[in-house]
Amino acid sequence: MRLFCPRPLRQFSSSSTSSTSSASTSTSVLAGLCASPASSAFSIAPPRSFTRSPSAPSRPRLFSSSAVMSTTKLKPAARVSGQRQDVWTIINEAAAASPKQPIVNMGQGFFGYNPPKFIIDAAKDALDRVECNQYSPTKGRPRLKKAIADAYSPFWGRTINPDTEVTITTGANEGMLSAFMAFIEPGDEVIVFEPFFDQYISNIEMPGGKIVYVPMAPPADGGERTSSAGEWTIDFDFLEKSVTPRTKMLVLNTPHNPVGKVFSRAELQKIADICVKHQIIILSDEVYDRLFFVPFVRIGTLSPEVAKLTLTVGSAGKNFYATGWRVGWLIGEPELLQHVSAAHTRICYSSVSPLQEACAIGFEQADKEGFWDESIKDMKGRMDRFNEIFKELDIPYSEPEGGYFVMANLSKVKLPADYPFPPHVASRPRDFKLAWFLIQELGVAAIPPTEFYTEANQKLAEDYLRFAVCKPDDVLELAKERLRGLKKFIE
Ligand SMILES: Cc1ncc(COP(=O)(O)O)c(C=O)c1O
Repeated sequence: MRLFCPRPLRQFSSSSTSSTSSASTSTSVLAGLCASPASSAFSIAPPRSFTRSPSAPSRPRLFSSSAVMSTTKLKPAARVSGQRQDVWTIINEAAAASPKQPIVNMGQGFFGYNPPKFIIDAAKDALDRVECNQYSPTKGRPRLKKAIADAYSPFWGRTINPDTEVTITTGANEGMLSAFMAFIEPGDEVIVFEPFFDQYISNIEMPGGKIVYVPMAPPADGGERTSSAGEWTIDFDFLEKSVTPRTKMLVLNTPHNPVGKVFSRAELQKIADICVKHQIIILSDEVYDRLFFVPFVRIGTLSPEVAKLTLTVGSAGKNFYATGWRVGWLIGEPELLQHVSAAHTRICYSSVSPLQEACAIGFEQADKEGFWDESIKDMKGRMDRFNEIFKELDIPYSEPEGGYFVMANLSKVKLPADYPFPPHVASRPRDFKLAWFLIQELGVAAIPPTEFYTEANQKLAEDYLRFAVCKPDDVLELAKERLRGLKKFIE
């Protein structure tokens, strides 16, 4: 179980030097919700809890005559009571306790600068409008659905219907939870590539889904040379063999967190062929869709057969540097999307109104403002400037093809044999020790990616650390300066 409640890190605060941004700090919080019951078959049908049924006679409720509840009743459900500390808690607590303060936080993927002014102004204006401070329609504000349909129709080569093919959600995360709640019955299988975005796991487990992992492997010589993130690959035979009659969904993430890979058209076609053959729903998590440095293809646009099976997920938080706004969406054909909308209605009814309005204006104006192009240029600049330190230290890394994370391979860093790692770190793979060491000795926080693998496959990533470069220039520069301290530990 990987739910987490990160404590805000003490951060290095700064003023931005970006042309598109000003200074601010933020924290990111993700949350999960509860489960649905029922039976299953190998079909694309929603669980019964979201379909209307004649009212069944209700079971009598049983109340204890004693006013004192037994302690077992106060026990949390297994889905939230995992014993193992998650990566965010470990890294955040380590950062808070580090002698090197303030910590340079290159760990969590929140922006260290504000959205552009035209979007901030739109949010401020929305707060002054009565209708923007009240409930929005459950499927989202008409203006935002239309703005998204208009922005994405050119990619699909047809007009997306804003009323039936777009649903607004509370961040991409709640959108994905809604998709799993809409289709997964207990025992249904969902294929997830490793490394994965950790929220997928709890979101699939909550309705009782079974996760079938398919590892993505870095190049064998990833510790010796800088390679492209595109060289992290899937074994497609293994993927096909992982399909069973219970396989209901496959989760794809491109551009990928944490790897930075943008799946090629050929790779997407192979995945799509398998899904079409076995009628598997594709949940395509494309939250970094506006940050690509190589050609980016959306799997839902490959063919009408693939489109019928695909739910494409987006995030205004990622698109507009506003992860705290919690505005996301799904695009998909009505046959699938209607059930996601139904689940979303049950989970949170509707999403935050004034910020939906601001995002609508963001989409309407983004092209005119040159925002999408600027966004790519800006992030690629940060990426290249930050990665200079790895070149300087001769530390190989995976050159990202998209997104804002870079994976550096620290196999050359020799950790002192007698270093006093606490037991909860000492028992974890090497990347946790590397992360702990960097926090304690250099004051730089990064994320150990084995957290995003199953134990069986952790070996693949134990020499890597993930750095988020969506930070102001002075933070990036300070991180580089501190990382120079690694020199004396490099063999
Ligand atoms: C791959 C991936 N998907 C989804 C999300 C969640 O997006 P949102 O903040 O819109 O819920 C994240 C956030 O880090 C992510 O990295």
